Amino acid sequence: MYRDVSACNTYNYGDALYWNSRYVQEAGSFDWYQRYSALRPFARKYIPTSSRVLMVGCGNAVMSEDMVKDGYEDIMNIDISSVVIDMMKRKYGYIPQLKYMQMDVRDMSFFSDESFHSVIDKGTLDSLMCGTNAPISAAQMLGEVSRLLKPGGVYMLITYGDPTVRIPHLNRPVFNWKITLYIIPRPGFERPDGCCSSSKSFLEPVPLTEKGLLPADFVLEDPDSHYIYVCQKMDETIVDISHPTMQQV
Ligand SMILES: C[S@@+](CC[C@H](N)C(=O)[O-])C[C@H]1O[C@@H](n2cnc3c(N)ncnc32)[C@H](O)[C@@H]1O
Repeated sequence: MYRDVSACNTYNYGDALYWNSRYVQEAGSFDWYQRYSALRPFARKYIPTSSRVLMVGCGNAVMSEDMVKDGYEDIMNIDISSVVIDMMKRKYGYIPQLKYMQMDVRDMSFFSDESFHSVIDKGTLDSLMCGTNAPISAAQMLGEVSRLLKPGGVYMLITYGDPTVRIPHLNRPVFNWKITLYIIPRPGFERPDGCCSSSKSFLEPVPLTEKGLLPADFVLEDPDSHYIYVCQKMDETIVDISHPTMQQV
């Protein structure tokens, strides 16, 4: 579930050819960063089971299958790799709640505006950020995500990217997203002192400063933590669904 992100310098994760050849070699399934069991509290808090969900860059993860087992009714999965989409169509053809389409997140014009309540991204913006033309690709992808979200809907980004590298892309006035941040340790993380329990609840949002940074006194127990950015598309009629003590970026 955890893979070394320094490999970003070695592989072109933004390239369809890279992913196609990787999926040809790696049959089976793999969930990057975290499994659904760890993400469930966040999904259930922000994403209604009856809503239409878009999973961008689904890969061969079992996340969507686990969500269906947990009651989610309609998950559209897309990926740039035709190899993995064909595999997933074969694997999940018997589950009507799961649909799969080959598509580039930078151009999702197949879907009409405001057609999803939620967009889930586990490692896909990260992949684009490792590719060529990273800033342009990220802006194209996030522009499309924003277009596809209904007002009040959420983009849930699960990433290794801390606020210094992700907030500048997410906190654009044109998106008008209210951003709530959670930080969870990587699976299997044990504190260096050998003690496994922490007084910290990872289910509590982490406040951000006005500049969108972590507070100066914030202690990151696991240096390789994962960050969950819940970005809610606001307009003047939307009720804020985030935690009342959370600061707006
Ligand atoms: C790090 S993997 C994450 C896979 C899966 N979401 C998970 O959590 O295990 C990134 C995925 O994004 C896909 N991807 C990369 N660039 C893409 C693009 N421009 N459009 C759609 N999918 C893309 C890759 O094919 C790959 O399956």
